[in-house]
Amino acid sequence: MSDKNEKRIRSYGCGELRLSHAGQQVTLMGWVNKRRDHGGLIFIDIRDRSGVIQAVFDPENSQEVFSLAEQMRNEYVVAVSGRIEQRPEGTKNEQIKTGDIEIIAENLVLYNDSKTPPFYIEDDLNVEETVRLRHRYLDLRRPKLQENLILRHKAAKAVRDFMDSAGFLEIETPMLTKSTPEGARDFLVPSRVNPGRFYALPQSPQLFKQILMVSGLDRYFQIVKCFRDEDLRADRQPEFTQIDMEMSFVDQQNVMDVSEKLIGYVFSKVKDIEIERPFMTMTFDEAIAKYGTDKPDLRFEMEIVDISDSVSESPFRVFKEAVGSGGCVRGINVKKGESFTRKEIDSLTDLAQGWGAEGLAWMVCQSDKVKSPIAKFFSNEEIEDIRAKMKAESGDLLLFVADEMEVVSTCLGNLRLHLGKQLELIKKDDYKFAWVTDFPLFEYDEQEKRYDPVHHPFTAPKDDLAHLASNPLSIRSKAYDMVLNGTELGGGSIRIHNRETQERIFSFLGISEQETKKKFGYLLEAFEYGTPPHGGIAFGFDRLIMLLSNSESIRDVIAFPKTQSATCLMTQAPTEIPEAQLKDLFLKSTVKPKNSEEPASENDA
Ligand code: AMO
Ligand code: AMP
Repeated sequence: MSDKNEKRIRSYGCGELRLSHAGQQVTLMGWVNKRRDHGGLIFIDIRDRSGVIQAVFDPENSQEVFSLAEQMRNEYVVAVSGRIEQRPEGTKNEQIKTGDIEIIAENLVLYNDSKTPPFYIEDDLNVEETVRLRHRYLDLRRPKLQENLILRHKAAKAVRDFMDSAGFLEIETPMLTKSTPEGARDFLVPSRVNPGRFYALPQSPQLFKQILMVSGLDRYFQIVKCFRDEDLRADRQPEFTQIDMEMSFVDQQNVMDVSEKLIGYVFSKVKDIEIERPFMTMTFDEAIAKYGTDKPDLRFEMEIVDISDSVSESPFRVFKEAVGSGGCVRGINVKKGESFTRKEIDSLTDLAQGWGAEGLAWMVCQSDKVKSPIAKFFSNEEIEDIRAKMKAESGDLLLFVADEMEVVSTCLGNLRLHLGKQLELIKKDDYKFAWVTDFPLFEYDEQEKRYDPVHHPFTAPKDDLAHLASNPLSIRSKAYDMVLNGTELGGGSIRIHNRETQERIFSFLGISEQETKKKFGYLLEAFEYGTPPHGGIAFGFDRLIMLLSNSESIRDVIAFPKTQSATCLMTQAPTEIPEAQLKDLFLKSTVKPKNSEEPASENDA
C-alpha cells in the first residue's frame, strides 16, 4: 500500500514461518510467485530465498489494500504486513514448508513491478537452457538453483573450517601469472606496460603451491579459480574452482587421509551423511581392467571379465585373432538380461561400434545351453569355462568385445555405464568413493608422436627412472585420483623435490634446457635452496557441488557459467574490443567475429 515513509522491518524470511508463529504480526518482503483470485479473496504467494508463503487479501479488511493486490503480477516486488494464522482445515498445502499457515494481509507495498518474464520461475521447467542463461538473473530465482548456491556456500565454509582445524593456511596466489601446464591451452592477458608480453591465467596454482612449501609454509590450501582453454563438457568449464592443497613432509597416505577427512567433513556438514572411510583403493591397471576407465562408477557391479584364455584356440576367427595379435576378449554379464530383444542387442552393437569396436558378440545363458549366433564355434568345455569366468546363471546376457586392450576397455566401460543407467542399477543418493593409484607417469600421444605426463611434469615417479629410455610407459607415478560415482573429483601427487630428477623428466619430455629455464627456471632455482619433500591434491569444487546437489550439469552449481562455446549469454562475453583499446595493448585483430552482437549459442551437452 502507499508507503507512508514508515520504517519497515522485515521480520522473517517468507519460508521461515511455521504454525508456531500463528498469531504473530509480521512483515515479509519478496517477489510475487503467483496470484489467484478466488471467491472474493485474493491469494498471493510471496517468494524469497527462504521459500514461499501464501498471503490472503480480504476486501473486508481494507478495500484499498485489496485493490492494490488485484494489480499484482508475477515477479512484482512487494512488502506484505499482517497476522500469521493457521489455515482453515482442508486448505493446508503439504507441498510447501509454510503450508499450515498463511498471512492475513493488512498492508501491501509495491516496491517495483516487473515485465512478464520469458519463463516461469519454477523448477523442472521445460525451457531451452540458452534462454535461461540469457536471463540468468531470473533463472537464479528458481528454488533449485538457489538451493545449489546455498549448498555451495555451506560446502566452502565447511572446507575452510576443516582446513583451518587441520593446520592449513589459506594463501592466495596470482591470477596474472605465467603458464602453469595442466594439459590445456592458456588464457592470455596482454600487458600494456610491457609491450609484446602476456600474462597467462593459471590453469592451477601448482607451481606457486610447491614454492610455498619451499618457503616453509608447510600446509597450504586455497579455494581458487583456475582457467583452462579446453573443450567443454557437462562437467567442465573454462573457469572453474578448485579446493587446492599442498603439504610438506608427507607421503601419499598422509595426503589421502587428510583428503578423505576433508570430503567426509563436507558431506557430514552439508548433507548430514557419514561416509565410510577409508575409501577403497585400486590401482590404475585394476580400474581399467575391471571397469574400462580410470574413474569407475562403483554404485553397481557388472565388472569386466577377461575370457581371452578360454577362447584363444576357438575356431571363431574374430576372438582367436584378437588374442593372437596381442589383444584380448573381454565381456560383461548383464544379470537377467535374457529379455533383451534382438533389436535392443543390435542397438547396443551400434553403440559399441560408435566407441570403436568392430562388433559386439552376445550369449544368452539358459540352464543347459547358451543361445548365441556364435555358440556353434565353441566346445561345451569352452562355453562352461566362459560361463564360470563370467559367473553366469540361467537368464543372464553376456556381451563380448574382441580387440586391442584399449578399444575393449573403452567400449565395455561405456557399455557398462550405459546399461547401468538403462537398467536403473544406480541408486540415487548412493555415494561410492574410491582412490585410483599407481598411474603411469607418461602416456604416448600417437598424433604428436611424443610422450606426455599423465598428471603433470612435477609428479614423482614411483619406480626407478632406470627404464626411462628403454620402457618409459612401464614407469608408475606417485599420483592418485579420488573418484566419486564415476567422476574424477580430485587428483594429486607426491612431487619431485630435487632439481636433478625434475630436469631429467623435462629433458625426457623433450623440453630443452633453454625452454625449461625459460618456463620453469624459477621453480628449479627455488629447488636449490632446501626443498622439503612435499605433495598435494586439488579437488574440482564445482564437480563436488554438482554431485552433492544431484545436479546433471556443472552449470547448475555456478552462478554465472559459460556455454559449451565458452560464452556468457547474459553479458555476451567475449566481446569485440575497440580498435583504440587494442592499440593500447599493441594488438591487432586479424578476424572479424561472425556476429558482433551475439556470441554463438548452442545446445550444450
Ligand atoms: P587436475 O588437473 O587433475 O590437477 O585438476 C584437479 C581437479 O579439478 C577438476 N577440474 C575441472 N573442473 C571443472 N572444469 C574443468 N575444466 C576442470 N579441470 C579440472 C577435476 C580435477 O580432478 N595441480 C593439479 C593438482 C595437484 O597435483 O595437486 C591439478 O590441477 O575435478
Ligand atoms: P561376423 O563373424 O562378423 O558375422 O560376427 C559374428 C558376431 O560377432 C556378430 O554378432 C558381431 O557383432 C560379433 N563381432 C564381430 N566382431 C567382433 C569383435 N571385434 N568383438 C566382439 N564381437 C564381434
